[in-house]
Amino acid sequence: MSQRRMKITDAGPFFILFLTFCSFSSKISIAAQNTITSSTSLSGNDTLVSPSSTFELGFFVRGNSTYLGIWYKKISIHTVVWVANRDTPLANSTGILKIDGGNLILSDGTTVVWSSNVSKTAVGQPVAKLLDSGNFVLSEGGDSNSDSFLWQSFDYPSDTLLPGMKLGWNLTAGLNRFLTSWKNDNNPSSGDYTFKMDANGSAELILSFQLQPQYRSGPWNGLRFSGVPEMTPNEIFGFDVVSTPDEVYYTYDLLNSSLLSRLVLNNTGQLQRYTWAEQDSGGGLWSLFWWAPKDQCDDYSECGPYGVCDVNRSPVCDCVKGFTPKSPDDWYLRVTSGGCIRKAKLECGGDGFLKLPGMKLPDSSRAVANISMSLEDCRIECLNNCSCVAFASADIRGGGNGCIRWASDLIDLREYPDGGQDLYMRLPASQLVIEGGNNGRKRVTVIVTVTLASLLLLLGLGFALYCIRKKREKTKHLKSLRTGSKERSQDFPLTDFDSLSAGNEISEESRKEDFDLPMFDLETIAIATDNFSDINKLGRGGFGPVYKGKLIDGQEIAVKRLSKNSGQGLDEFKNEVILIAKLQHRNLVRLLGCCIQGEERLLIYEYMQNRSLDSIIFDEIKKFKLDWQNRFNIIMGIARGLLYLHQDSRFRIIHRDLKASNILLDSQMHPKISDFGMARIFGAEQMEANTRRVVGTFGYMSPEYAMDGVISVKSDVFSFGVIVLEIVTGKKNRGYYEKDQQLNLLGHAWKLWKEERITELMDASIETSCPMSEVLRCMHVGLLCVQERAEDRPMMSSAVLMLSSENARMPEPRQPGFCTGRSIFETDSSSSKKESCTINQVTVTMLESR
Ligand SMILES: *[C@@H]1O[C@H](CO)[C@@H](O)[C@H](O)[C@H]1NC(C)=O
Ligand SMILES: *[C@@H]1O[C@H](CO)[C@@H](O)[C@H](O)[C@H]1NC(C)=O
Ligand SMILES: *[C@@H]1O[C@H](CO)[C@@H](O)[C@H](O)[C@H]1NC(C)=O
Ligand SMILES: *[C@@H]1O[C@H](CO)[C@@H](O)[C@H](O)[C@H]1NC(C)=O
Ligand SMILES: *[C@@H]1O[C@H](CO)[C@@H](O)[C@H](O)[C@H]1NC(C)=O
Ligand SMILES: *[C@@H]1O[C@H](CO)[C@@H](O)[C@H](O)[C@H]1NC(C)=O
Ligand SMILES: *[C@@H]1O[C@H](CO)[C@@H](O)[C@H](O)[C@H]1NC(C)=O
Ligand SMILES: *[C@@H]1O[C@H](CO)[C@@H](O)[C@H](O)[C@H]1NC(C)=O
Ligand SMILES: *[C@@H]1O[C@H](CO)[C@@H](O)[C@H](O)[C@H]1NC(C)=O
Ligand SMILES: *[C@@H]1O[C@H](CO)[C@@H](O)[C@H](O)[C@H]1NC(C)=O
Repeated sequence: MSQRRMKITDAGPFFILFLTFCSFSSKISIAAQNTITSSTSLSGNDTLVSPSSTFELGFFVRGNSTYLGIWYKKISIHTVVWVANRDTPLANSTGILKIDGGNLILSDGTTVVWSSNVSKTAVGQPVAKLLDSGNFVLSEGGDSNSDSFLWQSFDYPSDTLLPGMKLGWNLTAGLNRFLTSWKNDNNPSSGDYTFKMDANGSAELILSFQLQPQYRSGPWNGLRFSGVPEMTPNEIFGFDVVSTPDEVYYTYDLLNSSLLSRLVLNNTGQLQRYTWAEQDSGGGLWSLFWWAPKDQCDDYSECGPYGVCDVNRSPVCDCVKGFTPKSPDDWYLRVTSGGCIRKAKLECGGDGFLKLPGMKLPDSSRAVANISMSLEDCRIECLNNCSCVAFASADIRGGGNGCIRWASDLIDLREYPDGGQDLYMRLPASQLVIEGGNNGRKRVTVIVTVTLASLLLLLGLGFALYCIRKKREKTKHLKSLRTGSKERSQDFPLTDFDSLSAGNEISEESRKEDFDLPMFDLETIAIATDNFSDINKLGRGGFGPVYKGKLIDGQEIAVKRLSKNSGQGLDEFKNEVILIAKLQHRNLVRLLGCCIQGEERLLIYEYMQNRSLDSIIFDEIKKFKLDWQNRFNIIMGIARGLLYLHQDSRFRIIHRDLKASNILLDSQMHPKISDFGMARIFGAEQMEANTRRVVGTFGYMSPEYAMDGVISVKSDVFSFGVIVLEIVTGKKNRGYYEKDQQLNLLGHAWKLWKEERITELMDASIETSCPMSEVLRCMHVGLLCVQERAEDRPMMSSAVLMLSSENARMPEPRQPGFCTGRSIFETDSSSSKKESCTINQVTVTMLESR
C-alpha cells in the first residue's frame, strides 16, 4: 500500500556523517516505511519508522547474528529497546518480516524463526504499525485503539521498559510482562536476570538471577515502592501501580513528552533508569537517573528472617527488637543469612505490636493485602489471628489506609533514615515491656500503665500500712534504736515487688537482701547525721542534699534527704527505692535502707570513703592518687555497672544522669554508680507519652536527648563516653577550651584525633604509669561513645568488649555530638562563655519543648 521510500541522499550530508561516526549502528537503513500489510514486507535494510520518527524497527546485527528489533531513531547512540527473535537469531541478514494468516512472521526465506502467534484471527485487513511510544502493534485495518490490538510488542518486553509500558500481569489472560536481561552487550538472547511483578500477595517487583530473588522493590504504598524511598513525586516522571482483579502492573510516564527515558535491566543485574541528555555540541548521551540495587542492604534477605539491615550501621545487620541471632557464632562472623529467632514465644492472647518506623516492608509475596481496611481493623484482624506476625498500612497516603498482614517469616527488612514506613511487629507482652521504647501500641501502653499503676499502688499501700504500724510501735522503737540496733524485724515488705526481681542475675547471698529493705527511723538518722548538720553535708544530689552519717554501731552511711517541696519527689523516691532495691551489682552503689516519716523521705546508702570521681579527677593535687591502673579499673567498673543496668538486669534501665559526680569511689577506688533518682525503666515511662521532662546535666547529655527528649541506652552511652574522656584527660568536658577555639573537651579530642595527636590530651599526672595502647583504646572507645548519631554509638556490651580486649575491632569514630563549649540552651553569647567556664554541674530539669 502506501510506501514512502527515502534515499540516503535525501538525508543530506549530516546523515552520512552520523553514520560514519556511529559505531553502534551495525545496520544501515536506506528505506523507511510506516506500515506492513499483507501485501508488503520488511527485509534487508528496510525499516519501519514511527509517525514522528521517535522509534525505528528493522534488522540489526550483533555478533554474527541478525535480529529484528526496535531502536530510537532520533538519537546518535544506537539503543535497542526491543528484540523480536532474541532467542532465535537469523544466521544471515536475509530475514523477511511479513503478515501471514493474521500473524507477523519472521523468516529467513525458508523457515519461520519468529511469529506473533496470536490465535485471534483478523476479520479485516491486519496492519502492523510502529507507534511513537515504541509499541509495535498489529491491528485490524491499522486501528490505533489499544483495545483492538491483535498483538503488541509492549506485551513481550525485552530488557527495556519504556514509558507507558506495563510491567506485570493481565490476570484474565495469565499474561505476565517482565524484563529479561541480555546475555551480554553483543548478544540480545535471554540472560539470567529477570525483573518481574509478583502479584500473589501485595504487589511488588522482584529482580531475580536464575529465579533466585536478588532485589525487591518492596510493595507499592500509594506513593512509591516501600524499598525505593528516593522515588518521590517529581517533574519528570509519574509512577503508578494498578491493581485490579483483572490486572496488576507497574507503569511510568514522562510528564514532558519531549524527553526520552528508559528503564533497563542490564546484563549484570542492574536496574537502570536513563534519560537522554542532548548536548550543545550536537550529540547527546544517556545519563543515569536512578539505579538499583544500590547497596548491601538491597541484597535480598541480607540479614535473614527477622534481621534488619541498615547501611549506616556497622555491621549492617541487627535483629528486630525481641529477636536474637539464630546462630550467634555465624552472626559474629557476619554470616547473617540465618537471621534471627524470637527471644520469647508468642503467647497469642497476650501479644501486642511494636512499631518499627522507617522500614522497607518485608517480602510480601505471601502477605495478605486488603486496600479497603483501616489500619485499626488491620491491627485487630492481625491480633485475632495467631498466625499473623506483622501488619502495615497498604497505602501511606492520608495517614495510612489499607492493610497488609504477614503470616510467614519476615524476610528482607531494611531500615531507612527517612522515606521508610511503619511496620507493626507482633511481640509477646513481656518483650514489649523490655523492648518497647516509644513504639508500643495502645494496648501495650494500657497493659504497662496498669501494671505500673498497680505496682505504685501496692507500694503506696505498703508505705501506708507500714506508717500506721510504725506509729503504733514508735515508743518501743525509739528505745531499741537508741541502743543502736537496726530493726530488721520491721523490714519494709518489698516482697510485693518480687515480680520485678532481677531473678537469675542475683547471687544467692544477695537474694535475701533483695527481699527485705530495712526501714530506718528518722530519729536514728537524725542522731547519725548530727541532726542533718551542715558539717556533715556531702553535697547535693538531683533532688536534695546528701549527708554523711555514722550509726551508733559505727557503720558509716550516706543519707540522701529528698527536698520536701520538690514536686516530683515522691515519684522519684519510689522509683529509686524500687530500682535500687532490686539492683545488685558491685559497681552500683548499695542502698542500705530508707526512711519515710511524715514529710521526710530519706535514702540510706553505704558511705564511700573517696566520695565522688569528680572531686578527685579534676583536683590538681588529688588526681595524683589515681594512677592509670586505677583509672582504667574505674572506666571498666563504670562500663560494667552500666552494662548491668542496660542489659543484664531484667529491666532495661536508663540512668539518664550519668556524670563524674555520680560515680562514687570506695576506699579501694572501686567505682559505683549512684543517683538513680531519674533512672527510668525503659519501655514503661516512655510509652506513656514520650519524655515529659528532659532531665540531665549539660556536658553529659546526648544531643538527641537534650534536643528532642529521645531516651535510649545510647544517651547513657554518650554520657559514659564523656566520662571516659574526662578520666583519661583529667579535664572537664564543659569549660575546657583550646586557646581561641570554642571547643569543649569532646571537640578538642575530636580535633586531635583527626590530626592523630590524641595522645597529647592525656592527663600529665598519669604519663609515667600507663601503657600507651590502653590509653589510646580508652580514648578511641570514648570517642565512639560520644558520636553525634545515636545509631553510631556502640552498645555498652561492645564498649566493654572493646575496652577489655586488645584486638577487638573498632570502627573509626565519627564526629561527636555537642563539640562546642556552648550548649544549645545558652543563647546569649557574652554570658555563655562565662557560664560554660564556671562549671555548673547541677542537674537541670526542663519542660519538654515540643
Ligand atoms: C544494506 O546496507 C549495506 C551497507 O550500505 C549494503 O552493503 C547492503 O548491500 C545493503 N543491503 C541491501 C539488501 O540493500
Ligand atoms: C562469527 O563467525 C566467525 C566465523 O565463522 C567466528 O570466527 C566468530 O567467532 C563468530 N563470532 C561470534 C561472536 O560468534
Ligand atoms: C541464510 O541462512 C539460511 C539458513 O540459516 C540459508 O538457508 C540461506 O541460504 C542463507 N542465505 C544466504 C544468502 O546466505
Ligand atoms: C503459540 O501459542 C500457542 C498457544 O496460543 C502455544 O501453544 C505455542 O507454543 C505458541 N507457539 C510459539 C512458537 O510461541
Ligand atoms: C487481558 O487479556 C484478555 C485476553 O487477551 C483481554 O481480553 C483483556 O482485554 C486484557 N485485559 C486488559 C486490561 O488489557
Ligand atoms: C505467585 O507465586 C508463584 C510462585 O512464586 C509464581 O510462579 C507466580 O507467578 C505468582 N503469581 C503471581 C500472579 O504473581
Ligand atoms: C520539555 O522538555 C523540553 C526539552 O528539555 C523543554 O524545552 C520544554 O520546555 C519542556 N516542556 C515543558 C512543558 O516542561
Ligand atoms: C550494568 O550496570 C553496572 C552498574 O552501573 C555497570 O557497572 C555495568 O558495566 C553495566 N553492565 C553493562 C553491560 O552495561
Ligand atoms: C477487605 O476488607 C473489607 C472490610 O473489612 C471486607 O469487607 C472485604 O471482604 C475484605 N476483602 C478481602 C478480599 O478480604
Ligand atoms: C489466619 O491467617 C492465616 C494466614 O493469613 C490464614 O490462612 C487463616 O485462615 C487465618 N485464620 C483465621 C481464623 O482467619
